Amino acid sequence: MNINEILNYKDGDHVEGLTGWVDSIRDHGGLTFVDLRDFTGTVQVVFDKSGEIDIRLKNEYYISIDGNFKKRDDSLVNKKVFLGDSEIEVTNLSVINSSKTLPFQIENDIDTDENIRLKYRYLDLRREPMKINIMTRSNTFKSIRSIMNELNIYEIDTPTLIKSTPEGAKDFLVPSRKSPSTFYALPQSPQMYKQLFMMSGFPNYYQIAKCYRDEDSRKDRQPEFTQLDLEFSDANPLIVKSNIEKIVKFVFSDAYDCKITTPFQTLTYNQAMNLYGTDKPDMRIAETLLDIGEVFIGTEINFLNEILESGGVVKALHTEELLTRKQIDTLDEEIKELGSNGLGWFKIQNKEISGPLAKLLRDEEKNSILNYGTGTLLFQAGDFNLTAQYMDFIRRTIFNPSSDETFCFVWIEDFPYFEYENGKLQPSHHPFTSPKDDKIFKDDPINATALHYDLVLNGVELGSGSQRINNPSIQKLVLEKWGLNDSEIEERFGWFIEALSYGTPVHAGFAIGIDRLVAEVLNQPSIRDVIPFPKTQSGLDPLTNAPATIEEEILEDYNLKYIIKDE
Ligand code: AMO
Repeated sequence: MNINEILNYKDGDHVEGLTGWVDSIRDHGGLTFVDLRDFTGTVQVVFDKSGEIDIRLKNEYYISIDGNFKKRDDSLVNKKVFLGDSEIEVTNLSVINSSKTLPFQIENDIDTDENIRLKYRYLDLRREPMKINIMTRSNTFKSIRSIMNELNIYEIDTPTLIKSTPEGAKDFLVPSRKSPSTFYALPQSPQMYKQLFMMSGFPNYYQIAKCYRDEDSRKDRQPEFTQLDLEFSDANPLIVKSNIEKIVKFVFSDAYDCKITTPFQTLTYNQAMNLYGTDKPDMRIAETLLDIGEVFIGTEINFLNEILESGGVVKALHTEELLTRKQIDTLDEEIKELGSNGLGWFKIQNKEISGPLAKLLRDEEKNSILNYGTGTLLFQAGDFNLTAQYMDFIRRTIFNPSSDETFCFVWIEDFPYFEYENGKLQPSHHPFTSPKDDKIFKDDPINATALHYDLVLNGVELGSGSQRINNPSIQKLVLEKWGLNDSEIEERFGWFIEALSYGTPVHAGFAIGIDRLVAEVLNQPSIRDVIPFPKTQSGLDPLTNAPATIEEEILEDYNLKYIIKDE
């Protein structure tokens, strides 16, 4: 039986076969008190040392007891703990299993190194905060399945051994033994398969899908993660967004007991970049970026003049706080680490402006700056994208999110179709996304817009989706503009373009990162905290020691051998 079952017991009731772990042991004179813990709670059990029971117990022994249920005297009630008003006088004990000395204590607050926690993850998961995280994840899956059933969206699964067609990140590869020298890839997402369902005639689809991307781990990125993946036939972005809002609203209410308001606000990509410096704005912070370029037209501050003349921007944030020199220096160091040349600032106090550039200001510049009022004006000047990046960092560093609004959602749409990554053109979403206007895309792909929309929660990209291309010649055009030649298109995507050529409906879809959703709801520092068995930052699993080398004879079956590369 479990501890929850004794909640309704009365004084003197007999308890039989209650199992759990020894959470803590206290010796008091003739009595030994043990806190017994199971999945459902903790209860105090009492051993009379003068009795016959051998009570050589240690923490985390798994035991079974019989005994008599007893309400504690009012003076002894511990209101802080579950069942703190009761205890069990033990009449019989059996040790089901002993425990080795623990690598760390099973307590709520521990400062154990994360690698050790991951090595003994099964013990880490016994801790109450981790149990809450995993159960919140489990409740998320449960609520997703209820709302999908209610909306009549079909759960259909897709293969995980697929052809390598990287969508942006590198693929994890799986060598084939039956066809030596060939490889499957693990899916970065079920993108093309879910589109195939629409071509196959299914009106909609969802899947709680495992996705794999061989990229560097960060607090919101894992090589293996979980998406709620969706696709709708005869759909457009408005239909998809409205379905996603219904789903998110239901899951928040059902799984997290939290009411959220829909519809969510929508910003275009350009609005988001101008106002917040990022396409993932944390809308809990009310302050937005100021464009102060006009103030400095014809300025005597040489570097600003040069930047403005060469088409750059000057972006600022005003805080009513008079930041100290130390605070300014710290911010300066932090943005220099991101690549900035340094922090520009003016302090405004008693209608006077101070700061390293204050002496160079012309009267009209002074008047404009004084208009912002007492406080500190922090700025960055230069190329739009870099300036935006630094100002986004400053905004998130100097302002605290409002405590009134716990969850702030915003849609971002109208992304540029392509962006440059390490000097290479990449679709800002993926190459199956419809351009907003086919003609503009054809003539000027670099400046074309995509029918791609993201959902952002508290500054985190929660999900992403798009209207898909359903016309094979547009699909081919996009791949060409991306830079693929005819034979690459044929080799990598020929089968998909072929599939698009048999009467493909208009379709659109979305995917929500479930790990990010749960981490955000629980305000956890990293998605590792809400994944039962995550990988470390370097992609390793300290519990099983994966990835591991494979013996050479086994590699031979796959026609593979190690090449030792010189460093
Ligand atoms: P995208 O690549 O934007 O879109 O991914 C959708 C969402 O999945 C989550 N996510 C991740 N979570 C943890 N670790 C990662 N490495 C990781 N990468 C992505 C994010 C992200 O918003 N096929 C498209 C969706 C579509 O167009 O329907 C796709 O996968 O929360």
